[in-house]
Amino acid sequence: MIERLDHVGIAVRDLDAALQRLAPLLGDKRVTREEVAGQKVRVAHIDLGNVKLELLEPTSADSAVGKFLEKRGEGLHHLSLQVADIAAVLQALQAAGLPLIDQEARPGAEGNLVAFLHPKATGSVLLELCQHPADSAADR
Ligand code: CO
Repeated sequence: MIERLDHVGIAVRDLDAALQRLAPLLGDKRVTREEVAGQKVRVAHIDLGNVKLELLEPTSADSAVGKFLEKRGEGLHHLSLQVADIAAVLQALQAAGLPLIDQEARPGAEGNLVAFLHPKATGSVLLELCQHPADSAADR
């Protein structure tokens, strides 16, 4: 089911400021930026080789990340677990009665399909499932 940890999501108020703060740590690590309109965030992915950091800056105060910042401030937001078949995993979780935020996968960053589990199912850790586009293509 879970293949690997894909990324760690961190909520920030200002993407540029956050990247600047981290610059001494990052060296020449590859950073890619993207706006995910559906989730009202601008993201920066920092490729650490086997895992990524995902910095999330809300583009709107009424987005999930905007509300998180309002309530809890900057910090660890979610862990993203890569799965090969997100629809099958969601179905299995539903069958097991686990509460989900997303009943169905939706488009996320980097062309991934993503879905969030409800934190009450996971000891208050927000977990995201993600399926990479290469895996979706392989299904077709
Ligand atoms: Co994520």
